[in-house]
Order: sequence, then structure tokens, then C-alpha cells
Amino acid sequence: MTILIQFIHPYPERSRANHAVLDALRDLPGARVNDLYALYPNFYIDIQREQALLMEADVVLFQHPFYWYSCPALLKEWIDVVLEQDFAYGAKGLALRGKRWLHSVTTGMPATAYAPDGINGIAVAELLKPFELTACFCGMTWLEPMIFHGAYAADEAQMARYGQALRRRLETLA
Ligand SMILES: Cc1cc2nc3c(=O)[nH]c(=O)nc-3n(C[C@H](O)[C@H](O)[C@H](O)COP(=O)(O)O)c2cc1C
Repeated sequence: MTILIQFIHPYPERSRANHAVLDALRDLPGARVNDLYALYPNFYIDIQREQALLMEADVVLFQHPFYWYSCPALLKEWIDVVLEQDFAYGAKGLALRGKRWLHSVTTGMPATAYAPDGINGIAVAELLKPFELTACFCGMTWLEPMIFHGAYAADEAQMARYGQALRRRLETLA
């Protein structure tokens, strides 16, 4: 099984949580890390390269911090330009059918902030609906997302445990 890890963090040198996750996944058999901000700091995405990577993958993992209740801007740009008509959707756009989409996000705020009576009053999984709909529109299978809440307050051990849990999840998919 081939796993494409789309790592999306604009400041990886300052990252604690996403960095810890990446450390846990680096040597996962069959996995390839695609660091989008390292590749495309100016947002000029190599569409053919990205589409070729997608075609090789069985599972695509999107790993990123939660930014303004969504993703860092480069992932939105990637979705806009890579998931083209006649590639990802439309009568001739069958390239992604049956592939699995797994989203893993880290949030600064704790889980209580995303509870019905919390400051946001809505769960992160609900806020990820646009990604779920995008996956479905492309004929991909949306997997239950993984969320690491409370990254600001978390210690190294908690982050490492989350990374291992995500790794086990990916191994189970294989
Ligand atoms: C521009 C920006 C927007 C953010 N928006 C949110 C948000 O909407 N909800 C939230 O819980 N945390 C938010 N955060 C906090 C990040 O999610 C948090 O710093 C990140 O998950 C920690 O991961 P890292 O150590 O890999 O950077 C935001 C941070 C930044 C810089």
C-alpha cells in the first residue's frame, strides 16, 4: 500500500505538534512525505508532479495545523489547482476513484473549545466538512479524521503518543 503524506505547515521550524507527528511517520513502510511549503513556498504548484503522486497513492494523508477553522492557505491552493476537471472529477476525471483521504489536524485550542457548550460550539470534524465533500466529489473515500486538540498546552509525550496512534491507524489501513 502506498501512502502519500501531504505535510502542510508554513513554519515547520517553529512546529512542535506537526513536527512530532512527522517524526512518528517518517520511516513508515510505503509512505512518502510531500512537504508542500518546502516545495512551493511561492505557491507555484507543479500540478503534473502532484497529480502523478496522487495516482501512485492508495491513501492520502493531509497533516496540518488548524488555521482559522480550516487549513493553511497552500493546501487550499493545492486543492484548487491539482484537483482539476477531467483528472479528479467530471466524466473523464476518474483518477482518484476509490483512493482514501485521511485528514489529521492539530488545534491550538483544547477539545472543550469545540464541544457544543464550548467557545466555538462546533466540532472540528464538522468544520472539516468542505474537505469531506471535496473527497467525495472526487470519488474518494473519506476516513474518520484524526484530531490532536490542545497543541499549545501539550507536552512532547502527548504529541509523540498522537503520532504513534496515527501511525497505527495507517498500518491498520494497510
Ligand atoms: C494563523 C493561525 C490560525 C490559527 N487558527 C486556529 C484555529 O482556528 N483554531 C485552533 O484551535 N487553533 C488555531 N491556531 C493554532 C494552531 O492550530 C496551533 O498553533 C498548531 O496546531 C500547533 O501545531 P504546530 O506546533 O505544529 O505548529 C492558529 C494558529 C495560527 C498561526
